[in-house]
Amino acid sequence: MKVKRGIILAGGTATRLKPITSIISKHLLPIYNKPMIYYPLSTLMLGGIREYLIITNPSHLKLYQDLLGYGDNLGINIRYKVQKKPEGLPQAFIIGEKFINNEPVCLNLGDHIFFGDVNRLLKKNINDFKKTTIFTYRYKKPNEYGVINLNKKNKPISILEKPIKPKSNLIVCGLYIYDKNVVELSKNLKFSKRGELEISDLNNLYLKNNTLNVEIIDKKNHWIDAGSPEKIFEASKLIESIEKRKKAYIGFPEIAALKKRYITINNFTKLIRNYKGNYYGRILNAFLSKNFIN
Ligand code: TTP
Repeated sequence: MKVKRGIILAGGTATRLKPITSIISKHLLPIYNKPMIYYPLSTLMLGGIREYLIITNPSHLKLYQDLLGYGDNLGINIRYKVQKKPEGLPQAFIIGEKFINNEPVCLNLGDHIFFGDVNRLLKKNINDFKKTTIFTYRYKKPNEYGVINLNKKNKPISILEKPIKPKSNLIVCGLYIYDKNVVELSKNLKFSKRGELEISDLNNLYLKNNTLNVEIIDKKNHWIDAGSPEKIFEASKLIESIEKRKKAYIGFPEIAALKKRYITINNFTKLIRNYKGNYYGRILNAFLSKNFIN
């Protein structure tokens, strides 16, 4: 079964980025040369998703609507919902119940950036969805995330949220594909001590029922949680270097739209006109000349 819909969760408190985020939404901050939200959007677009729900804080909603509109110029459809209070990631599925429409759904956290071969891994799971899938990565500071406990045969047995003594370095990244049961399961979760619905509790339910597929993103790929000043800087430097050195194009929704043929070359050329004379337009133009015009 093909997964058609994706949620980008772009609410939260962004405490680690205050005072910057006292007045602006984290996911609009620049990562090198574009707003942070362009990265999860491009990841899901390249994966084959065309229907989106963006969830934001009430005070930031209009900013996202102004930036991305309904997505028609990218050949996709974007809807919006607000999360009144940041009460945890699984709330996305309760807020998005109507959008999900009793079908499987992807979730990309708005500050989790992926690039490299991971697109192929995601595409495979989107095109041929069988069961709930989490994407994981070996990370040197696992205790800041949900950590997978493996048994002696390397089989996942449980997921612990921010454990003091992590039993592995395999962490759960902010990219997931859930089956249609996710709405009901999320509704039945209990609030944790920190007052949130926990995604690790949700993932553990799938794990215990033997309905969880764990994909490992290998070290040839990049995953960055851009939720802190250091990580924003690190991500920006890395993306700058890869874009310049390898002439790669990371996190451009316009390019994702053209690559996937959601839009025509003609539509793409019109989009470039929005950036006439600036660097972003020049990059889009360079991509077009290199790949589509001989
Ligand atoms: P976090 O980075 O865990 O939380 P945060 O964004 O509030 O930041 P901080 O830890 O600095 O306070 O959230 C991961 C992503 O999920 C991020 O993109 C924000 C989003 N999010 C929501 O949209 N709603 C929520 O209730 C939570 C907890 C997070």
